[in-house]
Amino acid sequence: MSLLENRTAVITGGAQGIGFAIAQSFVEQGAKVVIGDLDLDAATAAAEKLGGRDVARAVKANVVESADWDTLLAEAVDGFGSLDVVVNNAGITRDATMRTMTEEDFDLVISVHLKGTWHGTRKASAIMREAKRGAIVNISSLSGKVGMVGQANYSAAKAGIVGLTKAAAKEMAHHGVRVNAIQPGLIRSAMTEAMPQKAWDQKMSEIPMGRPGEVDEIASVALFLASDMSSYMTGTVLEVTGGRFM
Ligand SMILES: NC(=O)c1ccc[n+]([C@@H]2O[C@H](COP(=O)([O-])OP(=O)(O)OC[C@H]3O[C@@H](n4cnc5c(N)ncnc54)[C@H](O)[C@@H]3O)[C@@H](O)[C@H]2O)c1
Repeated sequence: MSLLENRTAVITGGAQGIGFAIAQSFVEQGAKVVIGDLDLDAATAAAEKLGGRDVARAVKANVVESADWDTLLAEAVDGFGSLDVVVNNAGITRDATMRTMTEEDFDLVISVHLKGTWHGTRKASAIMREAKRGAIVNISSLSGKVGMVGQANYSAAKAGIVGLTKAAAKEMAHHGVRVNAIQPGLIRSAMTEAMPQKAWDQKMSEIPMGRPGEVDEIASVALFLASDMSSYMTGTVLEVTGGRFM
């Protein structure tokens, strides 16, 4: 029996990177997936790669926009028949020290991560509570646990996601909806490949396991939290970091 048979999952930012790896692992376990991404061409290509319309669909969505969420979640409910899992994964960075960070870049990063995850968590909860079942997985970051230089915006947003996850978990537990978070460390993706070599080397030196993580190593934990394998877990924050800043 597959872990996500007869379940539908919405994954934001699923066109590439960690989100795509999560979508792939969910499909392998029998789920239907809806990928919501700013980049419709990339999301459509991703859905094709996952097997096409019968199992994976793409929706153009900006997680900051309430109306886009309605369209995205409707694709799961009306298109595939249910909404069982939501992964709030879409994200960006706009790194700068506090002296140089612009107010626009502070607002943008807070908005995409924190408001985006808030929309996703509350709108998914409203649907899932009716079915008395659901799992929400929020992608935070190790940056939200320890705070990182040049990431006042991102660290604040990712720490905020932890508070949001726990508050929502408490509100939704008696409705059968579980809400958990993952804090990835340094994972090889487009987001981290853009990093200067010096910053990469510094981060590598902090990892006890001595290597970066791969996107599949986040996907397997997301699968665990999305499935009944974690049926007695809610409000947790799982660090997937190779031991960094344990
Ligand atoms: N890569 C890492 O090392 C790492 C570490 C910790 C946390 N994370 C988090 O994991 C998540 C995925 O990161 P990744 O490395 O795969 O990044 P990525 O840049 O490879 O992919 C991000 C995806 O999100 C989409 N996106 C961006 N803004 C959006 C918006 N407003 N609405 C909808 N979609 C949007 C992009 O189009 C892209 O497809 C992010 O939340 C990121 O903060 C990543």
